[in-house]
Amino acid sequence: QTFYLADYQPPAYLIEDVTLTFRLSPRATRVLSRIHFVPNPDTSDRTFFLHGEQLTLISAKIDGHEITPTLTDTGLTAEAPDAPFTWEAEVEISPETNTALEGLYMSNGMYCTQCEAEGFRKITYYPDRPDVMAPFSVRIEGEQPILLSNGNPTASGKGWAEWHDPWPKPAYLFALVAGDLRATTGSFTTRSGRDVTLNLWVRPGDEDKTAFGLQALIDSMKWDEDVYGREYDLDLFNIVAVSDFNMGAMENKGLNIFNSSAVLASPETATDANFERIEGIIAHEYFHNWTGNRITCRDWFQLCLKEGLTVFRDQQFTSDMRSASVKRISDVLMLRARQFREDAGPLAHPVRPEQFQEINNFYTATIYEKGAEVIGMLKRLVGDRDYYRALDVYFQRHDGHACTIEDWLQVFEDTTGRDLSQFKRWYSQAGTPLLHVEDSFEDGTYTLTFRQETRPTPGQPDKAPLVIPIAVGLLSPDGTEVVPTTLCEMSAATQSFTFDGLTEKPIPSILREFSAPVILTRQASNAERAFLLAHDTDPFNKWEAGRALAKDVLIHMITDGNAPDSAYLDALKAMVSDESLDPAFRALAIALPSQDDIAQTLHASGVVPDPMAIHNASKTLRQATAEHLADILPDLYAANQVHEAYQPNADQSGKRALAGAALSLIARLDGGKQAQAQYDAADNMTQQLSALSALLLADAGTDALAAFEAQWKDDRLVMDKWFSLQVMMAKPDDVADVVTRLTARPDFDMRNPNRFRAVIGALGGHLAGFHHPSGKGYELMADWLIKLDALNPQTTARMSSAFDTWKRFDEDRQQMIRAQLERIMARETLSRDTSEMVGRILAA
Ligand code: ARG
Ligand code: ZN
Repeated sequence: QTFYLADYQPPAYLIEDVTLTFRLSPRATRVLSRIHFVPNPDTSDRTFFLHGEQLTLISAKIDGHEITPTLTDTGLTAEAPDAPFTWEAEVEISPETNTALEGLYMSNGMYCTQCEAEGFRKITYYPDRPDVMAPFSVRIEGEQPILLSNGNPTASGKGWAEWHDPWPKPAYLFALVAGDLRATTGSFTTRSGRDVTLNLWVRPGDEDKTAFGLQALIDSMKWDEDVYGREYDLDLFNIVAVSDFNMGAMENKGLNIFNSSAVLASPETATDANFERIEGIIAHEYFHNWTGNRITCRDWFQLCLKEGLTVFRDQQFTSDMRSASVKRISDVLMLRARQFREDAGPLAHPVRPEQFQEINNFYTATIYEKGAEVIGMLKRLVGDRDYYRALDVYFQRHDGHACTIEDWLQVFEDTTGRDLSQFKRWYSQAGTPLLHVEDSFEDGTYTLTFRQETRPTPGQPDKAPLVIPIAVGLLSPDGTEVVPTTLCEMSAATQSFTFDGLTEKPIPSILREFSAPVILTRQASNAERAFLLAHDTDPFNKWEAGRALAKDVLIHMITDGNAPDSAYLDALKAMVSDESLDPAFRALAIALPSQDDIAQTLHASGVVPDPMAIHNASKTLRQATAEHLADILPDLYAANQVHEAYQPNADQSGKRALAGAALSLIARLDGGKQAQAQYDAADNMTQQLSALSALLLADAGTDALAAFEAQWKDDRLVMDKWFSLQVMMAKPDDVADVVTRLTARPDFDMRNPNRFRAVIGALGGHLAGFHHPSGKGYELMADWLIKLDALNPQTTARMSSAFDTWKRFDEDRQQMIRAQLERIMARETLSRDTSEMVGRILAA
């Protein structure tokens, strides 16, 4: 069944309030509901339909009278009055056997829930759609010491607790947790004087990993007051860490539930990158309290309304907490790796999709990350002042509402007077625009002529021109900036912008700060790139110039058999030794483009990528880099050691990142001696892991791997790193064997999404291993997807996107992949999630 945006109908009944009682039991939990329905005055439809899946109905009553509703696989219908009435039902569910991790399930002996998007219908019969909002009262009966739900606690006794959430919310924000949990507690006073208790709940033994998350929450609460004027609205804010979770975290009102990997951290067990990710996710979920909860989505087609905006807000937060330029570069790396890839293949869809079979398949990089880019462009176009003015109006006008993208854009039109009808195409048109550029210089006037082109995507053969904000700066050949960053607002298919009063032809720095999610096709000369790498005042474009150089060198090594280019190596050496540059920035600039990025680029230029050739060229270039930089590496490594106590802040992380990059180059020269020394001395996970990966690179990691396992065998999150690193670092010929060996271990528990992703996700991410000419990578992936689909459709469907680039590769590989995709499709019991994904991939 396919659902369409165009088919939206308002709900027939609205809800005044809900009371739920849970009698917890692993295989026979009873859920009693009492719901006050009222006819929706905005519609004459009086069909009474409640969603419900995998529920055993025990009894149902309307206004106290037992009824017999009509039951289907997806819900029930009944005769209901055209007047307010009370619905009462009792159902039975089985949390313990719920391996899909959607609805009420058990993780490590603890009960927890995940209701977004459509999981509440696995808890009880309900209009499970975000435009039906209601205050919830919840009673939990269970023997667990800690019983939590949304809102504020109202009463409790031995074996029970009651909660009330006064803020009307859709069912997807409902949450319940019951277990043996320990809290780390903090507090925050809002600027209007509300004292809020903050709890971070974990399993006994994890209490030493909570301090950072709690501080990140406090920082987020303060930031949202300072920057957006948004205050928290309850007396209590709970976060719970759970081990088995399909995604990162969930913004349930007053009771956020987190994948333990997205919240637990200590210096010994988490890397700098983990700390930064945790800070961002805590912020993200907290920011949803306004952008998502107080103002929610009318229907799931509007998902980007809350996700794009909330990602944009968490990106702003991280930029403010850490380094803005480093954050921008990392975000663009991620966007290109995941979203551009999606936009270029069979899974391409608009930021606001118009149809879906399974909404869980649309929690994508396009909706999240491209959704955030669209907000960033809007902010750039209207300017900061008007952006925040519009946001104030948005919060005021729509508080308590379930909204659409039209509502959102209307606010901007009303507050700025701008016509956003063309800009709106960013929400409906899929595909990454190509931006072609030509320039000319005459009589002191420099002209940039842009042409935009968006290639067809599935279901969208014809594309219209978009509004593209292009930030441009101009440099004179002596390296000074003659025109500071200026915004060129492109809206036509082809458009020119002129800059006059120049004495000589400038060097352009185009798309500064990556002002729009487009692909700039301009083939600058390597001399020009080296110039920008040395002189650009925009940190993003400075990095971009170096990246373009590296890419160009790699591509020519692959296509023309060139040797590593020494001009590139010289430029890299100069940049890396430039102490005026932030170490984090230098670490990013040393990194090579990912092998998948190279494959994508080759494909886009009409060359069939050979994963093995890409792998070998990357390896050769790394070796050449190590040799070319050999004389500066020891100093670089030494100069970036941190001598103070470990702190996961931007400053220290940057140094460790640069020292780690130096170490991996050193390992190519000294056989892993330095890496072993770092491994032996490491007192934090960042250094332990960078040493281990350098040792694996040098083929000298056997002892360290065993030591690591002995040290961390009881820590699941750390062992996930051990599992994935072995796959990531394996030689292409060995990847399948490594995966086979790791998945045969008793601690490879496929029911745990983190562990599954650590191994099978890493397989899909190893370009030359996954696309090994033997086809073993494909076969293994398909085997595991088939196995997991029977337990956890959501994670299976998500992971099937490993195959989404299959049309880039040669005939042989395509045939092998097609055979595997068809083998998956042929399963009789394939989930709706996976069949939608594999079906779309096959249709490429
Ligand atoms: N709203 C959550 C977040 O981005 C994501 C939860 C999605 N869960 C799912 N099963 N699709 O913060
Ligand atoms: Zn979110």
